[in-house]
Amino acid sequence: MRTETPVSVKLEDYTPYPFEIDSVSLDFSLELEATRVRTKMSVRRVRPGEFVLDGEGLTLNDISIDGSPLQVSDYKIADNKLTIADVPDTFTLETDVTINPKANTALSGLYVSAGRFCSQCEATGFRRITYWPDRPDVMSRFHVRIDADKATYPILLSNGTPGKAGDLPGGRHFAEWDDPHPKPSYLFALCAGDYDVWRDSFTTMNGDHVDLGVYVDKGQADRAEWAMESLKASMKWDEERFGRAYDLGVFNIVAVRDFNFGAMENKGLNIFNSAYVLASPDSATDADFEAIESIVGHEYFHNWTGNRITCRDWFQLCLKEGLTVFRDQEFSSDLRSRPVQRIKDVMRLRARQFAEDGGPLAHPVRPQAYGSIDNLYTATVYEKGAELIRALTVLIGDDAFNKGMQIYFDEYDGTASTIEDFYSCFEKASGKDLSQFRLWYAQAGTPEVTVVEEWDEAKSELTLTLSQKTPPTPKQDKKKPVPIPLRAALLDGKGGHVEAEGWQDGETVIVLDKAEKTVKVNLSKGSARPLLSINREFSAPVRVRRDLDKAGLLKLAAAETDPFNIWDCFQSLAKTEIFRLLDEPQSPPDDALVSAMADAVRLNESDPAFAALLTVLPDVGELFQDREPADPAGLDSARKRLRKAFAEALAGDITRILEQPSPTPFKPSAEQAGTRALRGAMIGLTGALGTPEAASQLKSHFDSASNMTESLACLRSLIPLPGKARDEAIETFYARWKDNPLVIDKWFAVQAGQGTAEDARRLSEHPDFDMSNPNRVRSVAAAFSMTNLAAFHAPDGKGHEVIADIIQRADKLNPALAARLLTSFEQWKKLEPKARASAKTVLERLQEAGLSKNAMDIVTRALD
Ligand code: ARG
Ligand code: ZN
Repeated sequence: MRTETPVSVKLEDYTPYPFEIDSVSLDFSLELEATRVRTKMSVRRVRPGEFVLDGEGLTLNDISIDGSPLQVSDYKIADNKLTIADVPDTFTLETDVTINPKANTALSGLYVSAGRFCSQCEATGFRRITYWPDRPDVMSRFHVRIDADKATYPILLSNGTPGKAGDLPGGRHFAEWDDPHPKPSYLFALCAGDYDVWRDSFTTMNGDHVDLGVYVDKGQADRAEWAMESLKASMKWDEERFGRAYDLGVFNIVAVRDFNFGAMENKGLNIFNSAYVLASPDSATDADFEAIESIVGHEYFHNWTGNRITCRDWFQLCLKEGLTVFRDQEFSSDLRSRPVQRIKDVMRLRARQFAEDGGPLAHPVRPQAYGSIDNLYTATVYEKGAELIRALTVLIGDDAFNKGMQIYFDEYDGTASTIEDFYSCFEKASGKDLSQFRLWYAQAGTPEVTVVEEWDEAKSELTLTLSQKTPPTPKQDKKKPVPIPLRAALLDGKGGHVEAEGWQDGETVIVLDKAEKTVKVNLSKGSARPLLSINREFSAPVRVRRDLDKAGLLKLAAAETDPFNIWDCFQSLAKTEIFRLLDEPQSPPDDALVSAMADAVRLNESDPAFAALLTVLPDVGELFQDREPADPAGLDSARKRLRKAFAEALAGDITRILEQPSPTPFKPSAEQAGTRALRGAMIGLTGALGTPEAASQLKSHFDSASNMTESLACLRSLIPLPGKARDEAIETFYARWKDNPLVIDKWFAVQAGQGTAEDARRLSEHPDFDMSNPNRVRSVAAAFSMTNLAAFHAPDGKGHEVIADIIQRADKLNPALAARLLTSFEQWKKLEPKARASAKTVLERLQEAGLSKNAMDIVTRALD
């Protein structure tokens, strides 16, 4: 049994490292099963304390200080730490270790993917490469030398810029890389193998030339073009928006098929999951192109927020991640449509982060303790972290925010910083005390804001009573009020705003910073009662409760001037209606509501990307946050009834829109993507009709589709419609794409995302299912457990069992992957009694069986 009891690391226990390591040379002699790593570091004591290095799974061949080999009695190796008792104040330490990259199935440290070497060191992978103080506040200048067989590994890459290179005896060769910027070990990277390269260059605003390369599988270079375009757009955007230029002569991206996450910002050598690099019009959807753009941006933006300024310790993870997500969201907004981007970001936040915040895994954006650092890369740290930066911009205004960012870049460049350091910059820039705002970082849970309005006709005065409450979360019963910046407007019902004392063009920001606050709004005498628009653009990550009935919400939707809120009014309406349909299984969907929803889609057809979003009903995962005990199957069928009625109301439009040709020639532009998004929405609604004619229409559209977006939309819509059309589509798609793993991932995911537990089991036994490839495992297990809640949480428990089996197998190879999949159980306590009992049994069985430390950390907290 590999059970390890999670030991918790605490923020309050932080102590600085007693030594500084100004520079380090790493010498790699690459062999699949026995790679030699020789490390030479110059160490200097800066304060009292022991000399301790981290190291995991390393075979130590030699160790010496200042050239003298150490005796076994001079050091101690225990619990993945190497301690040397007596060290001089200044010394050179040399170590020589052997590692086995081929056997590294955890994909952390140095490993092999498709016969090529690659690395992943964040958060604690570097200790699996060599002995080192593997913590982000120890920064050093890295010099790297790699030697390897030349025929098998013609390309040798690391961080920084290339130095000497040449041939060696025995068919080997070597290359040296130098990174002039001191960095923590988690940003180290190494790649070696045979690749095709898409090259380009960029000239920075300072006139510096940068060589760019995107390294991909042989024969795939043209599929790297979009990633390259995205990279150049990112470099330009960071210069224009934040005045930040790139700081090395080389920037490389390497795509790997086996990768635990999306991508990694290693200095000058980003390593990407190939899903976020490779794209071609025939094989990638618009969503893929968009994701590539945003993730390339995200990793590039880390160069300043993460690399130049890094984190003091892993509790500060949101310092780089929340901020960098905010930056990539802004990048996408500037390149595409701001309101559409905002809606998509909020959909993701509500689906993932609100769910996390409401369950047993809830934790503050900056936690006070953790069991396993790998499990801290959460929606809360990333997405809520980004929301807090956005809320800060609303609270202090864009000018103070921009000024604060410049102070941050200037004052903290080259350091390992904290959230306190970061906020001190905005206090300077705004002159405001932000200590109460920082509570947002310490308190878990999603605040609920209640808004009550009272209109005094005689005085032309609107009184708003706003109150806030954050529900209790694990180990945090009591919450204090946080400052909640709510953008607000007074709507006149004719598409305009109503002026009020102290409001600008009928708009203002209300900061709710107490448990309750009353705001008086004075209008000019004789004004009609305005409608209140609040939390515009989703200015704060809260749930807003208002006592608006259906008629009130419809009226508000018609009067709204904020596209986000228009969309959100319809989300609220749809949600309430789905709950009603769940409670009244005999009653048909409300005609008036359905036709208002259909009208909204038609009205916005000139902005097709936005119109497409208006066709999306809240998904089961979001619905069930508001229904305890949750009955996912019931919610799913109520949702489907509403969706069918919606499709019927749009039947004429569906035909009309799909009769028009898809834009040609294909471009991944926002404009064309918008057109295809609406077409995809219509394809989805065709499926919702569920008739035999719908199935045959979908099949013929599938057969003639000229791009992956529509082809996949048809396949997705056909999956739930049993019959020949469906079976043929599944087969043709497979036959056409069987040699393209990224497309086959989609093929697995559309089936797992809509099938039964038996389907998920069958897919996990398919010859192309591959336990060692995270993308493939997720295409079945995550698609099923995270997007198909009705089947996953079916009362018979079969869904839970399939996933538990996959998790148990995955955990033996790859604990980070297993732990991530386990989070699909996080909502189990909210389930109806049968599913709840089954989830509990399964979790206890897993706990009993013994899992990796990462997986155990999730199971233990989930059951707690
Ligand atoms: N820093 C990477 C990013 O840009 C993700 C690294 C994930 N690492 C992990 N151990 N979960 O978001
Ligand atoms: Zn990141």
